[in-house]
Amino acid sequence: METFDTLEVDHIIEKYGSDRSFLISMLHDVQAKYRFLPEDVLRYISHKLDIPLINIYRIATFYKSFSLTPKGKHQIRVCLGTACHVRGGQRILDSLERNLGVKTGETTEDEKFTLERVNCVGCCALGPVVVVDKEYHGNMEVSKVEKVIEKYS
Ligand code: FES
Repeated sequence: METFDTLEVDHIIEKYGSDRSFLISMLHDVQAKYRFLPEDVLRYISHKLDIPLINIYRIATFYKSFSLTPKGKHQIRVCLGTACHVRGGQRILDSLERNLGVKTGETTEDEKFTLERVNCVGCCALGPVVVVDKEYHGNMEVSKVEKVIEKYS
């Protein structure tokens, strides 16, 4: 008995005509659907497309956009590039860890948030910067952390 809806995964596979050369696109769709790449889904795709599981894992671990562990509904990325770091980025990250009760790289138990650190998101003048999903929060301060979390709760 599968722990996922095989019809949904079949739908993704069929969308690409069951063509193995679209494996990366299929994995992107799986990631979008589940917010990570569940092992049993990868096994299913491996079986359906007759691609060795090891090859699928090679792709899944090569691209940063794929995750093998569940991600939260919202991704909070704290910039610790040089400009943000010197302006207190680490304090923002520490505060987010405390407020969310997770370490960097982890997901909250309710699967609402995943906290990550990144190196420069391209708007150094606004540092320190926190990016939630696709929304940029510039000139971040520790005192604004709770408000930002509230906004997405
Ligand atoms: S260092 Fe943070 S945006 Fe460039």
